[in-house]
Formats: sequence, structure tokens, C-alpha cells
Amino acid sequence: MAKMEVKTSLLDNMIGVGDMVLLEPLNEETVINNLKKRFDHNEIYTYIGSVVISVNPYRSLPIYSPEKVEDYRNRNFYELSPHIFALSDEAYRSLRDQDKDQCILITGESGAGKTEASKLVMSYVAAVCGKGAEVNQVKEQLLQSNPVLEAFGNAKTVRNDNSSRFGKYMDIEFDFKGDPLGGVISNYLLEKSRVVKQPRGERNFHVFYQLLSGASEELLNKLKLERDFSRYNYLSLDSAKVNGVDDAANFRTVRNAMQIVGFMDHEVESVLEVVAAVLKLGNIEFKPESRVNGLDESKIKDKNELKEICELTGIDQSVLERAFSFRTVEAKQEKVSTTLNVAQAYYARDALAKNLYSRLFSWLVNRINESIKAQTKVRKKVMGVLDIYGFEIFEDNSFEQFIINYCNEKLQQIFIELTLKEEQEEYIREDIEWTHIEYFNNAIICDLIENNTNGILAMLDEECLRPGTVTDETFLEKLNQVCATHQHFESRMSKCSRFLNDTSLPHSCFRIQHYAGKVLYQVEGFVDKNNDLLYRDLSQAMWKAGHALIKSLFPEGNPAKINLKRPPTAGSQFKASVATLMKNLQTKNPNYIRCIKPNDKKAAHIFNEGLVCHQVRYLGLLENVRVRRAGYAFRQAYEPCLERYKMLCKQTWPHWKGPARAGVEVLFNELEIPVEEYSFGRSKIFIRNPRTLFKLEDLRKQRLEDLATLIQKIYRGWKCRTHFLLMRKSQIVIAAWYRRYAQQKRYQQIKSSTLVIQSYIRGWKARKILRELKHQKRCEEAATTIAAYWHGTQVRREYRKFFRANAGKKIYEFTLQRIVQKYFLEMKNKVPSLSPIDKNWPSRPYLFLDSTHKELKRIFHLWRCKKYRDQFTDQQKLIYEEKLEASELFKDKKALYPSSVGQPFQGPYLEINKNPKYKKLKDAIEEKIIIAEVVNKINRANGKSTSRIFLLTNNNLLLADQKSGQIKSEVPLVDVTKVSMSSQNDGFFAIHLKEGSEAASKGDFLFSSEHLIEMATKLYRTTLSQTKQKLNIEISDEFLVQFRQDKVCVKFIQGNQKNGTVPTCKRKNNRLLEVAVP
Ligand SMILES: Nc1ncnc2c1ncn2[C@@H]1O[C@H](COP(=O)(O)OP(=O)(O)OP(=O)(O)O)[C@@H](O)[C@H]1O
Ligand SMILES: [Mg+2]
Repeated sequence: MAKMEVKTSLLDNMIGVGDMVLLEPLNEETVINNLKKRFDHNEIYTYIGSVVISVNPYRSLPIYSPEKVEDYRNRNFYELSPHIFALSDEAYRSLRDQDKDQCILITGESGAGKTEASKLVMSYVAAVCGKGAEVNQVKEQLLQSNPVLEAFGNAKTVRNDNSSRFGKYMDIEFDFKGDPLGGVISNYLLEKSRVVKQPRGERNFHVFYQLLSGASEELLNKLKLERDFSRYNYLSLDSAKVNGVDDAANFRTVRNAMQIVGFMDHEVESVLEVVAAVLKLGNIEFKPESRVNGLDESKIKDKNELKEICELTGIDQSVLERAFSFRTVEAKQEKVSTTLNVAQAYYARDALAKNLYSRLFSWLVNRINESIKAQTKVRKKVMGVLDIYGFEIFEDNSFEQFIINYCNEKLQQIFIELTLKEEQEEYIREDIEWTHIEYFNNAIICDLIENNTNGILAMLDEECLRPGTVTDETFLEKLNQVCATHQHFESRMSKCSRFLNDTSLPHSCFRIQHYAGKVLYQVEGFVDKNNDLLYRDLSQAMWKAGHALIKSLFPEGNPAKINLKRPPTAGSQFKASVATLMKNLQTKNPNYIRCIKPNDKKAAHIFNEGLVCHQVRYLGLLENVRVRRAGYAFRQAYEPCLERYKMLCKQTWPHWKGPARAGVEVLFNELEIPVEEYSFGRSKIFIRNPRTLFKLEDLRKQRLEDLATLIQKIYRGWKCRTHFLLMRKSQIVIAAWYRRYAQQKRYQQIKSSTLVIQSYIRGWKARKILRELKHQKRCEEAATTIAAYWHGTQVRREYRKFFRANAGKKIYEFTLQRIVQKYFLEMKNKVPSLSPIDKNWPSRPYLFLDSTHKELKRIFHLWRCKKYRDQFTDQQKLIYEEKLEASELFKDKKALYPSSVGQPFQGPYLEINKNPKYKKLKDAIEEKIIIAEVVNKINRANGKSTSRIFLLTNNNLLLADQKSGQIKSEVPLVDVTKVSMSSQNDGFFAIHLKEGSEAASKGDFLFSSEHLIEMATKLYRTTLSQTKQKLNIEISDEFLVQFRQDKVCVKFIQGNQKNGTVPTCKRKNNRLLEVAVP
């Protein structure tokens, strides 16, 4: 989701005023109070229009994080609280988008935070400009040039632990897209006197301490150095250590930075060798040696150090030694050699050390430039960052301070010019009437210093070039003459001439009233420093060095290129380079950062009002505000102005349709702001008094509260409404779904019902049609039949006359006969065997002969049965008759019967006639014996059996003893009434006798026999033939037998297996005799 754009303004949550243009009332006190108030709230940046005032916090604040960079990125200048990033962003965007070269001028006194500010600007630009491997390398090199230059060019001073002792201007070059291409660094006037002497409480350049603390033993040995600072005269000892600074670590950082910037290893080595040589030079000491001419000549005390220097730098020791003792002056092809006294020798030594170091520094800058220079020739956009030493007022101010302060004077000049110009241009651009504003223009001071005919620098040069004795005093005298009347120049002498005396000024001093305050300069050293003289012998000795770097640093030592013309003085060189710089700056769009130092103690949280007041004064901040406010304190483009205040008027709230300017006009009319309080420019509204703006702000604040309530109200309404709408929508959806579901169900029901009804109707219709069709078919068939008959009749009627009467019938009968004949003839051959039990019979040939065929089969069977029977004898016939009789009596009635069918009835089993044993019995019987067989007679008392011979004759039934053959009982057949037997597979049977008969006196008989069926059959037949009465044969499993007086029930029980397969009989009680049949 796109981040919501929140329109903010500098005016939001403001502590004091973010832009001092809005201060009311405007005076020094309010300005300082405002700065203090903001400083106390960690707001170290404040604007004066587009100028950023930065108060050094002396502690790290969390306001430079990558998030902050993002916050300020692409935001309008006045959109967020004042910040150096806002200025950097404005400058960068204006460079990138509007193609305007930029310069960022950072001013302020020593320790005010200029160098830090310049680094912040560079790091911000590096963070927001293009990315990519190549671009990143360029950025890294640009950023890493800082630690290198700081190590060699910065030193601890009483004002600042990391004071820049050189001026630096860096052009960062960009391509058309705003990606960095490279850079060019210009350096201004390194304070080289520091190399040989440092004021109390200050240090030499950082690099010396870093080298001694951070170098490895090996490196130190190689450079012939010792770690102990106290070994070196050039290093001040009282403040060799700086609190919170780790020189050893910084040494590593610097070496690393050098590597990143692109220094080769051998180059780094050479640089360190030069640094070591400078250090060691300080240890060379001289002693006077009297000469013949009575003058003193200096001699080196201890040549050891000199020897080591020469070894280190590859210089011939004797050459260098001589250069410290003699000075050769060439004039008109003549060489004059003079000896140096001790003081001159020391001067020469220090001059060499200073020159060596300052030239090394310039070489470093050039070397860095070589690395970081843009590799392309395309047109570049440039952003210059100027970090130049601040205005300095020391106890003893010398040539360096004079030069530095001159430079600051020039910067102030350009600041005034550009600010005013810009302001004026804006008024013209916006078509607003310009009102002149009084301010102090320091052009006059610049003129005092740089004027080509009577400026101080010109005067100094003139003195230096003048033949004859030239001293600082003669220079001061000249100044007194020339500048005596200048308002900003004071000296004891000049004032004396006008006011007789000015004892407040010491001798050999002059005072300049700079824009930032009065500074008293000691003239001592001015001439020397301006001359910046290095004896030719020394430069030639250096040129002869085997050390390539040192050789290259002293090109004037080359005898072939000897130049008798004096080199330009330090003052004129500086003036020229400042002039170039100013020219350069004037072509660019300026951006100002004015640094203020809150205290002298380098301490956080302390705001020394006196000190700040002084800076506010000399920085001309008040004038700055006044100029900015000339006429109008506040201006803003119409769009953001309308955007910010549109809620204050009904016509413009919430949207103004027309042009922004008209909107603002309506707004201001509506608010009844007096017309003299504002003016309409072309693109901006100009507000005269901050009061008016604050009034607007107050109104806005009130209105915002009302609007918040309104928004809250509307939001709540909206929330409820959307909730309600959502619920309603949901309800509709649910209802729709439910209706659909219900309709679907109903539809399904109707559909299935319809289908049922439809199927019934279709069935009914189909049946109806089928019926009709069937009826139709039957009608058709009937009609066809009728028609056929009818046709037949017709045909017959028609054709009868063609046939003889009954011919058909005859043909039919003949055919029939033929068929029957054929049938019988075939049957003759197929007749089966004559065996009555042969079941074979040929199959029927014609259906219509079916009954004939069956009848024929029956007749044939009867016939062959008859044939079979005809073969029987009378005996056989009798046997078959008996068997037939038995079948009729017992078949399907008695279980014993089937087993008897196969047994032939033999009748007299016992051959009584033949057996002599039964002779008596045979004799007793006259009649024919039908049955003679042994049976078991069941004892009526216990059910046990005794064998008896059973005899049946034509009229009687006899029982005889088996052994003796004596007749035991004789019953006439007429007395036998009934035979009873079971239906089971046993041979028991009872013979019931007629009651009252003689035979019955002993009771009925109960027998068992294997030939029961034969006996019963023969008994029945005999009885029938003799008495003409059918013997009653009762087949029942329970019957009564009359034993003497008692009737005993004989009961047959099936399934008793105890006695094997033989039926057993047992008397159970008086009335029951039980026969168990297996
Ligand atoms: N924005 C800042 N945040 C935190 N500390 C700061 C800031 N600006 C400056 N300082 C502190 O103040 C010290 C001095 O700052 P800096 O070296 O930038 O001063 P300068 O104006 O360059 O002085 P000189 O003119 O001597 O070079 C820094 O070493 C640092 O400790
Ligand atoms: Mg600095």
C-alpha cells in the first residue's frame, strides 16, 4: 500500500521558532533565547529563511540515522523541522532536477562544527544519490578522503580537538542523473608553522602521534623511529594524548582509508618515510663554532640523527650537512656562499621541515584528486562543499590568523552579496516592491586587506621585495603610513598621529576591526612567513635525494630549471586562490550553514549566552533575519499556503477549484487580515509580520480541533453505516441463498411428481394405444380369416366343378391307409421281446397315431402277459394266486411285506410225511396239510416264547409240540375270527378265537414267525374257501388279546435296539405286553 502522504510543516510542534524570520519581536536577545531554547531541547538546527544555523551539541545526537535520511529525502525544505539534511536535500535536488550547480558554504569559528557539518552533507548526498557498484566505489573514495586529509591536516587546538588546519573546498561532480562521478579537492594554506612549534595545550598534526602509536615495531624500525613521543622535539608533550581519541586505532583507519582511496603500498610507505624524516629533522641540533673571520658557524651536534635521515631519504649526508651550514646566493651568474649561524641553521632546519610537510600535504591532496577525479569528459553538475577554517582570535595572532580572518571576511562578503542578491531577485521575480534595508557591508574591510595598491597584503609584498633591510617593524611603519586613516585599521602609531596616543595598543602590533570583531595582530614573523623562504641549498639537497617522492616535492631544486625570479609570496598566493574560490562560488547557487559554538569547554549541554551572542553578532545573523524580512517576514508558495489554511474559510474548504492564488486571496479576505499585512507575489504570498502568521496558525489549530471532531463524527457515522450496509448485504445474500434453496427443493419435488404423473399418463396412453393396436390386429386377423374362408368358399365354389365329388376324401383315406400300413409294417420289425417286464417300446412316428400307439403298446403287453401266463402249471398258478392275495392284503400296510415278496410260499416247511419223528402226528391228521411250520408261541404269563409246530389244514388249525409232535391245540377254522398284527417289520401275530367256542377257552394265540405273510395269506384263503367268509385281518400297533379271562393289550414299540435285530416281547403288567421292534 502506498504510504499515506502526511502534509507536515516546519510550523508543526515547533520549539521556539524553527525559522527565526518568524521571531517577534526581533532583537539580539530573542534570537539568542530562541537558539538556547531550541538547543536545550536538542534542536540544534534553526533556519533563517534558507540558511541553516547549527549549534554544536558536542555529543552525538540520534538525528543522523538512515531513517532520518529517509524522512528528509525528497521533502520540501519547510516541511520538516530544521535539519542539515533538509538543506542537503534541497541542494542535491536543485542540482539534479534543475541543473543548478550548488555550493555549500559552511562557516563559523573553530570548533563550531564546520567539518562535521561538511561530512554530514557528504554522507547525506552519498545516501540519497544513485546506487550501483561503480557509483558506490566513487562514493566510498570521496568519503574516505576525509580521514586521510584530517590525519595530515587536522590537529588538536585549544578550541577544537580536531581542528582543521587547512582550508578545504571539495567539488563533488555528478552526471545528468545525479550519480556521483568523482570530485576535486582544493586545499588552502596549511598552517605549517604547527609542524615545528605548537602553542601551549595544542598538538602537532595528528599523523605524527598516530604513526608513533599505531605503527608496528617493524615499521617503526624501518622508519628509524621510536615509539616514545618525548624523543621528538617537534612533538609537544603537554597534550600529546587527547581524551577520547585512540591514535593507534585512527592510524589503522587512515591506512585503510588510503588503501580505499587508491594509494599504492609503496606510496603509503614513502609518505610515512617523509613524515618520519620531518619528525627526525626536529631532533637535529646545532652548536656554534668560531671561525677565523670571527663569526660563528653552526655545526651539527650529533650527526647520528642526520645520518638516519639521510639513510631514510637517500640524501647524501655531506650535501645535507653543508646545506645546514652554508647559504649560497646567486646573483648575476655569481655565486656567493655565506656561513649560517646557529639561529639561521635552526631557521633553515625548521623551514625545511615545514616545507617538506606542507608540500607532502599538497602532494597528498593531488594524489587523492587523481584517484577521485571523474573518469569522463561529459558535462558535470557540481556541488561544492567549503569547509574553511573559522574566524580566529587568539591571544597572539600572527600572519596565519590574519590570512584566515581575511578569508572569512571574504566569505562574509560573498554571503552578504549572495543573500541580498537572492532576496532582491526574489522580490523582482515575484513582482514585489523592494524596500531597502540597512546592514553592515564588510567590503570595506576586504578592501583594506586586499586592495592592490594600498591593501595590507600589497604592502607586505612590497616590503618583502624591497631591497635593503626589511623587517617586520619597517612593514608596520609602512602600514601606519598608508592605512592610518582607515576606519577599521588601528595601531599605536597611526592613532598617535591623530589622537596623540593610543596606549591600549602594544608596540609592534596592529588591529583590524573585522566584521566579527577586533583582532590584534603581532607583526613579528609577517615578513618571513610571507616570503616563505627555503634556502636554495636545501631545496637542491632535497632534489638530489634518492627518495622519489621527496625529489618530486622540490622541483625548484633542479639546477637545470633554476629560476632566479622570486617565487610568489604566501600572501599573494593566498589572495589569488581566495579570489579564484570566490569567483567559483559566485557561479553557483549558494547554501549556507552557519555554525555556532555554544561554549568554550567542548562540553555538551552548556550554552554560553555571551559567547553565542558574540557569534550571532559577528555572523550578522540579526542582519540576516532583517534582510530576509525586509518588508515581509514570511513567504510561501500559494499551493502549500492554501493547503495549510484552507480549512479556515468555507469557500476553500474542503476543496478549492480555482487557481491557488485566488484561493489564498479569498481566504485572506474572509479572515479579514489587513491588506497592509500581506502582498501577493507571482507564485508566493508574502506576509509582512510574523504576528499575522501566528494568528493564522492559532486559527488553524482551533479549526483542526473542530475538524478532528467532525472527522470523528463522520468516521463513526461511516463505520456504523458501513456496518449496517454490510449486514444488510449479508442478509440479502443469505435470503437469496435460502430462497434459492427453497425454490430448488420445491422445483425438485414438482419435477419428481411431474415425472411420476407423466410416467403414469404415458403408461396409460401406451396401454390404450396397445389395446387399440391389439384390437385392430385382431380385427385384421379376423378379417383375414373370414376373408380366407370366404375366399376358400368362393374358390371351392368356383373350382368344385373342376373336381370329382369326394375325390379329396378318398385321397385322404388312401393317404391315411398308406401311412397306417407303413406304421404297422415298421412296428412289426420293431416289436420288443416277449418278456412281460421289458419296458421298451418304439417311439411314436406320427402325432395323430398317439392313442393308437399307446393302445397297441397295451394290447401287446397284455398279449405277452397272457402268453407268459399260458406257460404256467396249475401249481405255479396257485402260488401266483397266493402271492397276489398276499399283495392285496399287505402291500403298503405291513412293513414286513416287501421282504416276503421274493420268498416262494412253500407251505409245509416241515416234511411231516417224510420225518419219522412226526409219524404219530401225521397219522393223527387225515386232511391235507397246507402249512407245517415251527412258530414261537408267546407265553401269556411272561411273554417268553416256546416253539410249536403250526399246522393248517383245510378245516383246522393245529398246534403241536415240536419235539414230540403231540398235538397241543386244535382249532376249527370256523372259530377263528380275526388275525391281528402290527404294521411293523416283525413276525408277531395274534389269532383271535370266537368267544364261547371250545377252542377259545384257553384264550387267543400270540405267535411269532418268519413266514407271517405266507401263514396269514394261506389262513385267509383257506378260511375263505372253507367257510365262505373273509377272515378279518387287523393291522394295528396296539391290539387286545384275550388270555383266558383277561384282555391283554399288545403294544408295539419301535426303536428299542437293546436286543439287536430280533423283536422281543415282554410282559409289562397284567394288561400290557410290550413288543419292541428294532
Ligand atoms: N553535529 C554534531 N554532532 C555532534 N558533535 C559535533 C557536531 N558538530 C561538531 N561536533 C563536535 O565538535 C567538534 C568540533 O567540530 P569540527 O571539527 O567540525 O569543528 P570545525 O568547525 O571544523 O573547527 P575547525 O575550524 O577548528 O576545524 C567535533 O570534533 C565534534 O566532537
Ligand atoms: Mg574543521
